[in-house]
Amino acid sequence: MNRKNEHLQICLNEDVQAQHTTTGLEEYTLEYDALPELDFEEISLETKFLGKTLSAPLMIGAMTGGTPQAAEFNKRLAQAAAEIGIAMALGSQRPMLQNPEDESFMVKKYAPKLKLLLGNLGAVQLNYGVQPSQIREILEKTQCDALNFHLNPLQEAIQPEGDKNFKNLLSKLHQTIDELPYPVLIKEVGCGISTTTALKLKTLPIAGVEVAGVGGTSWAFIEAMRNQDPIAKTTGVHLKEFGVPTAQSIQICRKIFPEKYVVASGGLRTGLDIAKALALGADIAAFALPALKAAETHEILQFLNQIVYELKTILFITGSANVRSLRGKIFKK
Ligand SMILES: Cc1cc2nc3c(=O)[nH]c(=O)nc-3n(C[C@H](O)[C@H](O)[C@H](O)COP(=O)(O)O)c2cc1C
Repeated sequence: MNRKNEHLQICLNEDVQAQHTTTGLEEYTLEYDALPELDFEEISLETKFLGKTLSAPLMIGAMTGGTPQAAEFNKRLAQAAAEIGIAMALGSQRPMLQNPEDESFMVKKYAPKLKLLLGNLGAVQLNYGVQPSQIREILEKTQCDALNFHLNPLQEAIQPEGDKNFKNLLSKLHQTIDELPYPVLIKEVGCGISTTTALKLKTLPIAGVEVAGVGGTSWAFIEAMRNQDPIAKTTGVHLKEFGVPTAQSIQICRKIFPEKYVVASGGLRTGLDIAKALALGADIAAFALPALKAAETHEILQFLNQIVYELKTILFITGSANVRSLRGKIFKK
């Protein structure tokens, strides 16, 4: 079985989420307003993101591609995202570097109305010979609107076949982003973005960041489950919940990037989690693992509709006519 299929199987069948460290969102309460002076029906979740208007501030997070099973997941996710009017991110397009015709990433043919599609590649690949022209080609082939570069040193350190040379990446990222005719976001994969990292990223010409904080899916743990080497495996288990919790990472990134997009992610599971993330300063929110699980059982539309209704209800009961006016209506318990 190849790596991508192993990832899917482990994510669907094992307890890959943080158990002892939370997103930190449970420490916060949204400010209730019993007299909202709003008509529920007039509340708008519409959100501008990367030049597109989404029906809600939501994105299906970067997950997969590269195998027939991944193709089926991508198709279901893209069709649901298009129907609801939200954004979707592809999983790492590294397989396309070998085979630019890889069909599993070509979701636009099933979901031509998809509002916004983000491509994805590990930033570390820039240290392993990947050229901006190749990145441009895979983004063109998949008709992406933007690129999400992921940073994942912990995952690579535990992954049996991991790429562990992260030297000089900041300058290579700068050069590459300058050459790409696409907006670029930088994301983690579940360890969050700290102040130290954010200050480095601030020097780049990026459109924004996706925090992917601790509290949800753990890639140290997933790679530990794949690794037969006892030392690497134990290290992955010990570091399962290492990093910056989501609530903290959102606030760090909003402070360091006051004018750029901040995407909240990492352990967001309900409309309430998402509302808190938006109130803490995020522009939109993304979720990965729950969308995968819902797609497996053909319940992805129900899952998305649930989140949308919950979010709209929270806007109503916090007296927020739109998403932007939710910001700041939150306090620590
Ligand atoms: C099955 C699966 C595959 C993933 N593959 C990628 C990937 O290829 N590239 C990436 O940037 N993040 C990848 N991620 C990480 C997610 O985009 C997200 O940052 C992380 O899972 C935290 O969100 P969650 O707790 O909602 O799952 C993957 C997540 C899952 C569950």
